[in-house]
Parts: sequence; C-alpha cells; structure tokens
Amino acid sequence: MCGCSFLDISVISICFIFCWSGVGKSAFTGKIHGIENVDPVLQYVANNSLREHPVLTKLRLRTLEDQWSTMMVASDQAQLMANLIRLINATKAIEIGMYTGYNALNMALAMPESGRVVACEIESTYIDIAKPFFKEAGVENKIDVRHQIAMKTLDELIAAGEAGTFDFVFIDADKFNYDRYYEKSLELIRKGGIIAIDNVLWNGKVVNPAPSDLTSQGLDALNKKLHKDQRIELSMLTVGDGLTIAIKR
Ligand SMILES: C[S@@+](CC[C@H](N)C(=O)[O-])C[C@H]1O[C@@H](n2cnc3c(N)ncnc32)[C@H](O)[C@@H]1O
Repeated sequence: MCGCSFLDISVISICFIFCWSGVGKSAFTGKIHGIENVDPVLQYVANNSLREHPVLTKLRLRTLEDQWSTMMVASDQAQLMANLIRLINATKAIEIGMYTGYNALNMALAMPESGRVVACEIESTYIDIAKPFFKEAGVENKIDVRHQIAMKTLDELIAAGEAGTFDFVFIDADKFNYDRYYEKSLELIRKGGIIAIDNVLWNGKVVNPAPSDLTSQGLDALNKKLHKDQRIELSMLTVGDGLTIAIKR
C-alpha cells in the first residue's frame, strides 16, 4: 500500500507520480536519491544516516539530470554496500552494470589505495559522464572500466586466472542475464566474499508476476533458486528496490 497521506494538492501530485512509478511504494521500500524523497520514513533515513562523499553528491546530482536516472543505485543502499566492503576488508570488486558510476565510485572510495573495482558497462555515454568524477575523487586508478558486454568481461577475468579472488560483486545490469551473472560471480568470488544483487523485488512485481512479465518471472525464479542454494548464506533486504546479499560458503 502507498504510504502517502499528504493534504497539499501539489504534494499529492508528486506523491501520485512516485506511487505510480513504484518509488516510495511503502515506507520500507523505495529509492533514496536525495532530498526529493516524499516518503517521510525514507526522508528520515536520509536525513539521519547518509554520509555521502562530496564527489558522490556531485555525481548523484549530475545523474539526476539524465532521463534514466532512476537506474542509479539508492544512496542508502550504496552506503550499506560501502560498509559491507569495509567490514570484509574488500580490495577486489566487480560492478556488473555501472551506469554513471555512482556505486563504482562509492566502492572505490570505501577501499584502501590498493583496491580495484572492475566496472562493466556497455554504454559509452555513461562512461563519459562517470570518468571525470572518478578523477575528481582521486580514485581513477582504482576503477577499471570495461566497455563491453559484462559477460565477456566476467569470462575474461576467469580466463585470466582470477576465479576465487574477488571479495565483492554487485549485479545490477540487464535482468535477463541475472542468473548467469550470479553463477559467474560465484566462480569469481572467494569463500566469504559477497554477491549483492539489485532489484530483486522489482517494484513488488515478483510477488505475483503477470504471465507476460518475463522479467519479474525471471527475478522470482532467481530469488527462489537462491533460497535453496546451499553454496551461500542469504539475506534479502527491502532496501532500495530489494537487495539480496549472498555470502559464499
Ligand atoms: C541499473 S543501471 C546500473 C546502476 C549503477 N550500478 C549505479 O551505481 O548507479 C544498469 C546499467 O547496466 C548497463 N548494462 C545493461 N546491460 C549490460 C550488459 N549486458 N553489459 C554491460 N552493461 C550493461 C546499462 O547500460 C546500465 O547503465
């Protein structure tokens, strides 16, 4: 159910747009992209927990100018992933689907000087937006952007002998390939490494996927597969659009 209960008519319109688009659908799911959130609980979370690096703030604001900015990872979710990276002392990460680089930058900033993020992205426009911000934050040497389909990069990393060496993988590209990305990620991460999977709730549509909705069906099937997967420890969080945390056993 939508959590909006505003009286002011202009706010009702904004609220309708957010609810219709699924953003802020309940108090416990929805993306924090900054001060524009209308859900009061999400706003409270943003006001009282976000600690965004100044260059991340600039990149987020630049990304919000893009017509596809809803693809950007939520700020609170990015902060959670940065803290997981710190918790496991990660120095090698992969981002499958970089977009304008908000989370690639976020992960690089959370790592020591020796850290490395392999960032997979097919669209050059997005890479061109991201790179100046990586430079401005002083972490351009930590982010290895691979401009090609993600699967090719994952296969190349395996062929280069890097299986079992990564600490953290974030899966956030085309949903059609999520299961394949998951299997490749399991091969690439070490024991105790983390695979984070975005959009696992898909705006709530995984609950009862329509017969014609292949994306929701695919995500639902992956969620159910992970539930039984004995190769991992598992948590499914309602942060952002749903975030699964899988820890390799
Ligand atoms: C949801 S966005 C990623 C958001 C990003 N993780 C962030 O921090 O804001 C998904 C991105 O994956 C890219 N993408 C889609 N299919 C891809 C593929 N097969 N290989 C590489 N990138 C892909 C898209 O161009 C898009 O930029």
